[in-house]
Amino acid sequence: MKKKYYITTPIYYVNDRPHIGHSYTTVAADVLARYQRSIGRDVYFLTGTDEHGIKICNAAAECGMTPGELADEVVVHFRKLWKRLDIRYDDFIRTSQDRHRRRVQILVERLVEQEEIYLGKYDGWYDESEEGYVTENTARENDYKSQISGRPLVRHSEEGYFFRLGRWVPRLIEYIENHPDFILPISRRNEVISKLKLGVEDLCISREAEKLMNWGIPMPNDPRHSVYVWIDALSNYITALGYPPLDDGEKDCFDRYWPVDVHLIGKDILWFHAVYWPCLLLALELPLPITIFAHGWWMNMGKKMSKSLGNFISNEYIEEICDEFSVDYYRYFLLRSVKFGDDGNFSGERLIETYNTELANGIGNLLSRTVKMIEKYRSGIIDPPRVDGVGPEEREVISCANQLLPGNQLTSKKQDCHQPGKR
Ligand code: ME8
Ligand code: MG
Repeated sequence: MKKKYYITTPIYYVNDRPHIGHSYTTVAADVLARYQRSIGRDVYFLTGTDEHGIKICNAAAECGMTPGELADEVVVHFRKLWKRLDIRYDDFIRTSQDRHRRRVQILVERLVEQEEIYLGKYDGWYDESEEGYVTENTARENDYKSQISGRPLVRHSEEGYFFRLGRWVPRLIEYIENHPDFILPISRRNEVISKLKLGVEDLCISREAEKLMNWGIPMPNDPRHSVYVWIDALSNYITALGYPPLDDGEKDCFDRYWPVDVHLIGKDILWFHAVYWPCLLLALELPLPITIFAHGWWMNMGKKMSKSLGNFISNEYIEEICDEFSVDYYRYFLLRSVKFGDDGNFSGERLIETYNTELANGIGNLLSRTVKMIEKYRSGIIDPPRVDGVGPEEREVISCANQLLPGNQLTSKKQDCHQPGKR
């Protein structure tokens, strides 16, 4: 049986159109998926959109639309850009779909039955642009503004249902410490562990439904409340596989693909993925992800490019780059210009420079010389690859390559290898 490979991107908010940041994660995931397919794996690549929450409600109100209308309009732009960028996903989930909503309710109901959820009162700060709770200390340190978007925090004081997150934290810490590939890069993993060790409170996982214009997934035990958008969103990684199974004609490939091989995300949402999500999975008695990889940010003038800040490279600009250069060049540029995991700065000059130096002068030149030599010395015909295994020429190339591996000393032979003209 083929080995499976399940990879996901975040599901993106539909408060506005896609930008370079979204395309970065999605292209990177597509590259990994293509590679895994090319080596014969049974790949499942999931992406989609996150459509509930206050952020979408606010954006919809600003354009005089209902949240559902806004979601229907914006999702088209995500789909269109992924098509343009040649993204070959296997499924595109929208959290407003019935297949997702019904399954989230069942998952939450299960937690209620297991007494993992209790009724309480949330009185504290909320970051609407990131849909996250903020502790009093962090709020004060950041002048009561969002650490990421800089927007003012909002005070919530209302009844809500709480998930017993704290109960699972010791097990989570142990798990992270015993699984070095669970959170990558390592530096981020260490940040998560340090923060966890400072102590974590239980998590409010509901919001009064009318404050969300009744646009959300009703709590199964109490429909006056809606499920917290992050609980709703994180669940997409299993609901899209048809978990829990239901008789609704949806596919059921949870056993085939879960646990996920990589949740590819940006570092802005690592805490949700590395803490809330695994604790929910532990409570649901489901296996944990194999790897959560948090990459860096595309920055502009020293700030994260974001819809909230309006300093981003837009979907229109991305399309222009693809028209002027090519889709493959845009993909190449995204992955080539920043070490994966680090932050990077976008610059139009770099875009042109990389194209000229690396593609035109580097790879393009190599190709053109190679083709010319094949024409000149081989009359335009090259022998087909040998079927009888490795011959002397191949052996020479392999040996040269091996000498390039770390730890190998420079030898005169190796230097010879670099000068094919000598032969
Ligand atoms: O967070 N640089 O959605 P979102 C690099 N719906 N990547 C960036 C980026 C930047 N400047 N800006 C965005 C959400 N991204 C939630 C996710 S998942 C269950 C729910 C990418 O629309 C990066 O992958 O704010 C980041 O994590 C994601 O877009 C956030 O997209
Ligand atoms: Mg965001």
